[in-house]
Amino acid sequence: MTAVAEAREAGPVSAPSRYQYLTDTDRGTPAGELLRRYWQPIALASDLPQDAAPLPIRIMNQDLVLFRDDLGRVGALDRKCAHRCADLVLGRIEDGGIRCPYHGWLFDTRGAVLDQPAEASATSKSRVKARSYPVHEAAGAFWVYLGPGEPPLFPNYPALQGGQEYRYTCRWMGDCNWLQASEGNIDPVHTSYLHQIELYDDAMKARWGVFSNTARPQISVAETRFGVRLFTTRALPEEHVSLRVTNFVMPNACAVGGFEGDLGPGGATMLWDVPIDNEHHWRWEFIFHRSGKLDKEALDRQYRSEKTAGDRMIRRRDDNYGQDRASMKRGAFLGLGPCFSIHDVVITQSQGQIHDQNDEHLVSSDIAIVRARRMLDEAIQQVAAGGEPRGLVRSDEDNDFSDLVVITGTLSPGVTKEAFVQQCAEDPSLFALDPSASDAAE
Ligand code: FES
Ligand SMILES: [Fe+2]
Repeated sequence: MTAVAEAREAGPVSAPSRYQYLTDTDRGTPAGELLRRYWQPIALASDLPQDAAPLPIRIMNQDLVLFRDDLGRVGALDRKCAHRCADLVLGRIEDGGIRCPYHGWLFDTRGAVLDQPAEASATSKSRVKARSYPVHEAAGAFWVYLGPGEPPLFPNYPALQGGQEYRYTCRWMGDCNWLQASEGNIDPVHTSYLHQIELYDDAMKARWGVFSNTARPQISVAETRFGVRLFTTRALPEEHVSLRVTNFVMPNACAVGGFEGDLGPGGATMLWDVPIDNEHHWRWEFIFHRSGKLDKEALDRQYRSEKTAGDRMIRRRDDNYGQDRASMKRGAFLGLGPCFSIHDVVITQSQGQIHDQNDEHLVSSDIAIVRARRMLDEAIQQVAAGGEPRGLVRSDEDNDFSDLVVITGTLSPGVTKEAFVQQCAEDPSLFALDPSASDAAE
């Protein structure tokens, strides 16, 4: 066969991606420098109560220690001691800081050396400082800022508001690069296929019908100040149109549907795909509903049944993740049970540890992924030029995210999707918390 015939047989060939480099987030890389400009979740708040052992953190191939001192303050420092690099995760929590177990240097949460017990010079400790990073607690997690200069304001995304009665926070470890995981969240077509689960009764059909609607969706996107808004429409009978509005949130988050099917509008799930290193990431989930009626016990039960130690899934690649082909005959598309997080983690891992974009053949329904890659690329150039990338918040008036609309609805004839979103953004009740569920715990 000639080379030309071979190429014809192989089908269309896509142009090599110029965005492949976005996968590398080590320090000093373009994407690494971009992601470090934003607050990133690093640990569950419940993993660091008073008197807890220091936590090892790996983020973007950087090793930190997260600790709570004996006065309750939380700090993040480089994991290697600033003296001779011993592991501070083994450190002692005492005397207002963390004390290195090798020669006893004591560091506070900001990295200042409070004590060098074996050092004769009283001024020696003021000449050394551990590298420390700002930490913020919100929505059941600790967040860190790893970038230069003054951190941006912590963003008031609706899904992170309102205390624990309104929210369920958890995470999963994924054995692949962060970018392909993040791109799975802005790929609305897959919900109709990958997430089709077995529907046993009418109640399930009513709840999950939107996901099993395989009518060809039309996807369009609009740039926003925080990222990309996705409109997914599907034709319904009588000229009505089903509309789902979801969002890419710069640079590694998204705001997608929550539990509106069960609880009505006012739900949103935010996901962050945070690189651990270039071959692993944490998928953080912040599941929110304004009603305070999330069935967190049911979520907990489902998630626990799928998880093993270290927030990893029990299912293993070497036995095809326990895929149940009998259930696929009964209506499940993938056959890995009803937990959507499992579907997402498995399928993005299946693309390879670092998905090679050069092997892709992108089509029109991948429009949001293309736009997001371009947006990341532009933001990288802004950072390189000394500017601020999209989505950072520096003032209180910019910290109102009522325009981060997440909604599943039906468009009446004559109403545009843009007008519908505008109405939602101006409706103060969309994410207004039901005070009867309020909780003083946070
Ligand atoms: S290595 Fe930590 S005090 Fe010496
Ligand atoms: Fe998904």
